[in-house]
Amino acid sequence: MAISPNLHDDIEEILIPQHTLQARIAELASAISQDFAGKDLVLVGILKGAVMFMVDLARSLNVPLDMDFMAISSYGNSTESSGVVRILKDLDQPIAGKHVLLVEDIIDTGLTLRYLVEILGSRGPASLTICTLLDKEKAEHKVLEPAYIGFTIPDRFVVGYGLDYAQKYRNLPYIGVLKSSVYSE
Ligand code: IMP
Ligand code: MG
Repeated sequence: MAISPNLHDDIEEILIPQHTLQARIAELASAISQDFAGKDLVLVGILKGAVMFMVDLARSLNVPLDMDFMAISSYGNSTESSGVVRILKDLDQPIAGKHVLLVEDIIDTGLTLRYLVEILGSRGPASLTICTLLDKEKAEHKVLEPAYIGFTIPDRFVVGYGLDYAQKYRNLPYIGVLKSSVYSE
């Protein structure tokens, strides 16, 4: 694997520029603020991919809320889902009786989310709602329908704005497609 000294050189195509991301997040935030007004809301971010999205979303929400994080491992360094999910860090606070908004970076196969919904659902939240920045359009029907979706994207491997390849590229301010030379070399 060869990563260029200038991260931008490894990007084949910018799928979602920074200003488009921010404009869409503001829209999502105003919908979420309305939907959760007067409710005991907790944002649950999935580390590390959802971090950028979670903080930008939280900053745009004008309702009181708690923020908590969970870390799971699903992919290793590969670009394909293994289906194996492990909890590396659990929530700090109980979610019983709370309205939980699960904040994810991307839904690919949906395996990760299905597992998380099972675990969190068993803890007695008042409600459990999914908010994902990206959703990959795939032929097969998905079991989970997120209430809030930032963008539906083609089935390509993307990086940036929290999303990584081998832990790199999370700090790119946009969503881009990685050059295949990065993982074939
Ligand atoms: P799923 O279980 O297949 O839905 O995979 C979800 C997780 O895989 C996401 O939370 C990401 O961490 C990772 N992932 C899926 N697709 C991509 C991608 O295109 N780029 C980077 N990470 C991805
Ligand atoms: Mg990841």
